Amino acid sequence: MCGIIGYTGRNKAVPYLLTGLERLEYRGYDSSGIALIDESGISVVKRKGKVSALRQAVGDNFTATAGIGHTRWATHGEPSQLNAHPHLSENGMFAVVHNGIIENCSEIKQELKQEGYSFLSDTDTEVISQLLEKNYRGNLITCLKDTLPQLQGSFALAVLHRDFPGTILCAKKDSPLIAAKSEDGCFVLSDTLAAREHISACYIMGDGELALITENSLSFFSADGTPLSKEPHFLSGCTDGADKGDFPHFMLKEIYEQPAALRDTLSAYVKEGRIVFPGFCLSEREIKAIDKIHLVACGSAYHAALCSKYIFHQLTDKEASAHIASEFRYDSIPLSENSLVVIISQSGETADSLAALSLANSKGAKTLAVVNVENSSIAMKSQSLICTLAGTEISVATTKAYICQLAVLYLLALYIGSHSGGYAPSELLQQLLSLPEKVEKELLQNERALAAADLLKGSEHIYFIGRGTDYALSMEGALKMKEISYIHCEAYPAGELKHGTISLIEKSTPVVALCLRKDLFRKTLSAIKEVRARGAFVIALTAAETAESLTDCDFVICIGSAVSDMLTPFLDAVPLQLMSYHTAVKRGCDVDKPRNLAKSVTVE
Ligand code: F6R
Repeated sequence: MCGIIGYTGRNKAVPYLLTGLERLEYRGYDSSGIALIDESGISVVKRKGKVSALRQAVGDNFTATAGIGHTRWATHGEPSQLNAHPHLSENGMFAVVHNGIIENCSEIKQELKQEGYSFLSDTDTEVISQLLEKNYRGNLITCLKDTLPQLQGSFALAVLHRDFPGTILCAKKDSPLIAAKSEDGCFVLSDTLAAREHISACYIMGDGELALITENSLSFFSADGTPLSKEPHFLSGCTDGADKGDFPHFMLKEIYEQPAALRDTLSAYVKEGRIVFPGFCLSEREIKAIDKIHLVACGSAYHAALCSKYIFHQLTDKEASAHIASEFRYDSIPLSENSLVVIISQSGETADSLAALSLANSKGAKTLAVVNVENSSIAMKSQSLICTLAGTEISVATTKAYICQLAVLYLLALYIGSHSGGYAPSELLQQLLSLPEKVEKELLQNERALAAADLLKGSEHIYFIGRGTDYALSMEGALKMKEISYIHCEAYPAGELKHGTISLIEKSTPVVALCLRKDLFRKTLSAIKEVRARGAFVIALTAAETAESLTDCDFVICIGSAVSDMLTPFLDAVPLQLMSYHTAVKRGCDVDKPRNLAKSVTVE
């Protein structure tokens, strides 16, 4: 997490830095700061809270044409002005912004303290600025190359030196960093979004690489200081996502963008009625040989994995399992060349998912990334790649990227099924292609979702229940609700409630029951009756055909479109997202930037 931007050029740096930081707030927003450099030295301004507080503090006072900026998601040390980046070295020679974690910072700090260095903050980053100052002998690249081996952990760094106005020094290991040229200068960025309108090509730094950036030049070096030549990546013409348009929040805008995102994703991979995955480089023989599919992800992406696991079992002859990425590494799961490990991630930078990918690669498994950011670390380190085409997602709570993950995973199940003797009905592909219109129709549930939010807004706890794919959607519904409304939510398989959790149900306890699947409806209805009998207040999501059997429920959201049981997850996602959104708005929460969260979780 944490967002970095640096600019050096012919124009004033402040507007680029502040606008860039606002766009990077999705990576962290507990504090922010900038360091500007000119002939008179380095000036630092930092503030606790959102970038708007920093903008106010910076005002129009600075004319420097070079500087670095940072928006923070706290790891070491509480969110505060003191712990905000940039961090200066002892004598103010270096200013450093950092994304990542220095795991051996306590040992380094102790040694430096014994040598007389003093520390102002509780951060791990301050040890980097102090080490740089200690190791500096007149050459910036030599100083950086000598310092980095002393750091254990992950880092993306942008650094200023007092004596080199107009120069930014950079380094990267396991956290993303991108350098780019514009018409009037050069940038270093955590994400191209931060300066998207100024750049058309960029250089993605690899692990262990260093860079020296000036007004007119980008120079790259390997870890030992040898100059490197790098190929540019050209960015697509798309600059979407950066503003909310007429929507009050990015989250609502992105919910409404789902039909288009689905359409783009499906049409990229279904050509003339056939599924084509140009980036999936397994031969028919290798697909047939796969004996196990591991779907690995975090958060909502894990819920997409969980949901599609059921679909892999229905459409292929392969065993599939969904894993939380941070746990996958500790499970000693047997992996071989016949294992397919699918890493699912919107950002493509999630540290736990990246670590799971490295493990799978190292064990000789076949790896495939399903990511929304094409040039991300997960995309680049995976053997095969299928991108979701959701466009830029800004709101911390994922919506359109999640639904596109589902679409790609369903297509993948159909693809693998059809190449390995599984069951791949062409009607299902046709129904998948009709989903954008059906999801569009579900957006009309907005008024119902608003009414449900009125009923839920005062709750302390909400339970979400369902079976099969409805259970996977309950997990997603509960996460969406809790992360943005701060109401405690839990999801349970409907059949599991009576094995313990039902003791928590008392008069008026809200239960959101998902019973979209017609084949499982009767079973889930029994669970609804059990909680109703104990006084629960039940909101049910169901299909039109089954709504009549739910007269006993307090509130019913009826999914309009008829689809096969396999495809209901695409449709229940929409009212669940809208219900969470409206509940959070009614509770006065910061919907797009919920407390303690960041969109891109680049620390383990
Ligand atoms: C929830 C949410 C998170 C992410 C998770 C993984 O709304 O957005 O749970 O799904 O942090 O992030 P990615 O997909 O970027 O790996």
